[in-house]
Amino acid sequence: MAKKQYDVKDLKLAEQGKKRIDWADQSMPVLRKVREHFAKEKPLKGITLSACLHVTAETANLVRALKAGGAKVFLCASNPLSTQDDTAAALVKHEGIATFAIKGEDHDTYYGHLRAVLDEKPVLTMDDGADLVSLLHREYSAYMPNVRASMEETTTGVIRLHAMERDGALRIPIISVNDAATKHLFDNRYGTGQSTIDGVLRATGLLYAGKTIVVAGYGWCGKGVAMRARGMGAQVVVTEVEPIRALEAAMDGLRVMPMRDACRIGDVFITLTGDKHVLREEHFQSMRDGAIICNSGHFDVEIDMKTLRRLAKKIEREVRRSVDAYYLPNGRCVYVIAEGRLVNLAAAEGHPASVMDMSFATQALSAEWALRMANKGKLPVKVHNVPKQIEDEVATVKLESMGVKIDRLTSEQKEYLTSWSEGT
Ligand SMILES: NC(=O)c1ccc[n+]([C@@H]2O[C@H](COP(=O)([O-])OP(=O)(O)OC[C@H]3O[C@@H](n4cnc5c(N)ncnc54)[C@H](O)[C@@H]3O)[C@@H](O)[C@H]2O)c1
Repeated sequence: MAKKQYDVKDLKLAEQGKKRIDWADQSMPVLRKVREHFAKEKPLKGITLSACLHVTAETANLVRALKAGGAKVFLCASNPLSTQDDTAAALVKHEGIATFAIKGEDHDTYYGHLRAVLDEKPVLTMDDGADLVSLLHREYSAYMPNVRASMEETTTGVIRLHAMERDGALRIPIISVNDAATKHLFDNRYGTGQSTIDGVLRATGLLYAGKTIVVAGYGWCGKGVAMRARGMGAQVVVTEVEPIRALEAAMDGLRVMPMRDACRIGDVFITLTGDKHVLREEHFQSMRDGAIICNSGHFDVEIDMKTLRRLAKKIEREVRRSVDAYYLPNGRCVYVIAEGRLVNLAAAEGHPASVMDMSFATQALSAEWALRMANKGKLPVKVHNVPKQIEDEVATVKLESMGVKIDRLTSEQKEYLTSWSEGT
């Protein structure tokens, strides 16, 4: 069978997708500036770049910037439920990008799409969750010498890549875009914070005020969700395993307790830990009738869905859009949003463009930097941080676009801050 040039749901959705992409572009001034710089300098000229990212309008603008920089981009989805089918269609029709992504694709199609972009023998890759790099290492050994670097977008991906580095399995240089301040401080906190609240709201229509919202994991994402839920009048309970993060939550004025206690009092449960089976059988059994469960961590492993399916005496699909009801033998019912997959992308539209502006400007500039360093032979095989200079540049342009000005150090202050002689 001839190889497909692209695989999207319906090209007729392209006009709608184009509008969505242009709308997002208006809120992405930093990425637009990168695109202009790329169009002029062509730093990625002739490079094949395979990307496995959430196929959303914001990603489409990243792809436009990479293409403007001279790269030949191939795109697939990093989650089976996060694809915007209209965006995917517009990328094919209006941008000429070979896109392989269909919302709701099954496991085999998902991996078929990853293979389709790897078959292009990329020189650079981009990942959100490390599925592409992991498949590359497992099955595409022959292509490895071709790959100069890979950019990783999310916490879970970086954790997996550090594990590969520790085990001596990593064979290409990685740039940890997630660890850049211009990514996790804003995207994970404000982006996930707002879009997770949005996903739960769109799926259920619930009133946050007065509800008990249990946030599992008080990392960058968890803090954002907790802060916003509290702002809407909810009582927020945090569960944690790290003492410092738990202390932070307690001193931020939130109730902290183990999940075995929280599961009895929560109205809504949101997992954002990057960990496995944070909600499991013992918790499902103790939840109130009508409890709502969802996940905003990267993989759909945070809620033990397999056990919940086994426990349920009846499952009613789509009692509302994206919501399934699980009737338990104890006579109670729990509702699961988006089958335990990323609630903000599956039940809403993912992060607002204005925050992805910084994440994706950091991605694009990291790709330029990584290629330059690799070409000079100065990018050893390990997980690298994004250079501070890129973070400063992204933050400076973002502030400018917001019309925010800041102070500059005087020469006296510069000297003071670099000396040790002045004291009490
Ligand atoms: N929904 C999105 O769009 C989106 C965006 C960015 C990141 N993510 C994902 O969200 C997850 C969290 O990211 P982050 O940046 O906040 O990570 P983080 O490392 O800053 O925070 C995770 C927190 O979870 C805690 N934790 C781990 N296991 C736990 C358990 N069993 N019970 C309670 N707490 C536990 C950790 O101690 C840590 O404080 C990751 O999977 C990441 O990839 C999702």
